[in-house]
Amino acid sequence: MSQVSDVSMQLLLNSDNPVDMFPHMQSFQEMMMYYECAMMEVETKLKVLNSEFALVHKRNPFESIKSRLKKPNSIMAKLRKKELDFTIENLESGLTDIAGVRVICSFLEDIYALSDMLSAQDDITVLEVKDYIRTPKRNGYRSLHLIVEVPIFLTNRKKYMKVEVQFRTIAMDFWASLDHKLKYKKDNLKHPEIVAQELKKCADTITAMDYKMQEIRQLLE
Ligand code: GTP
Ligand code: MG
Repeated sequence: MSQVSDVSMQLLLNSDNPVDMFPHMQSFQEMMMYYECAMMEVETKLKVLNSEFALVHKRNPFESIKSRLKKPNSIMAKLRKKELDFTIENLESGLTDIAGVRVICSFLEDIYALSDMLSAQDDITVLEVKDYIRTPKRNGYRSLHLIVEVPIFLTNRKKYMKVEVQFRTIAMDFWASLDHKLKYKKDNLKHPEIVAQELKKCADTITAMDYKMQEIRQLLE
């Protein structure tokens, strides 16, 4: 696969739709379409689990689900960070989060129930599990991350694509969105370490609350 020239790369970085400008990037557009299909497959699988679970148990295991495709400029930046050239092969082998699905649950135990049900499906291969709930990051970040491989059925072949699935509670998601803001604002803050400390305290409070909420629900059942 040919590499993109520096000029093309600059234009690509500043463009929302690089393929319109660069017909030779047809294969990039194709890859993004495949990732989008894989993302839809995983989202549909989770929605099916949600519907059936709701029918049997009279409640939804997740509150919301969001999917996103990584933007071309973020793909470029990540490849560069990993010192990989911009090629389709490197996209596929070097990046695991081009397609991302985020599942927001009310209760901790639903996270594991859903991820176990998804992982057990016979067309899903789990490539990696990062359990930042059992082992939170030092800053307090908590979520369960899976990298799964799912087949998509094209006109004349089957192709396996990687999708990153993140499971979190509503409280964890609330925390992560504030932490995300800190990442971008850090340089303009007088005392970013104090904000980080306060966020860490919030993470501990949220953890205690997630466990308490689950206990209460178990008492109610
Ligand atoms: P990235 O280069 O960020 O993709 O990290 P990674 O490849 O080591 O993977 P990891 O599973 O640790 O993180 C993947 C994704 O989880 C990130 O892109 C974020 O969406 C989320 N994430 C991980 N750590 C944090 C964190 O400390 N704060 C927030 N807000 N999100 C995080
Ligand atoms: Mg990532």
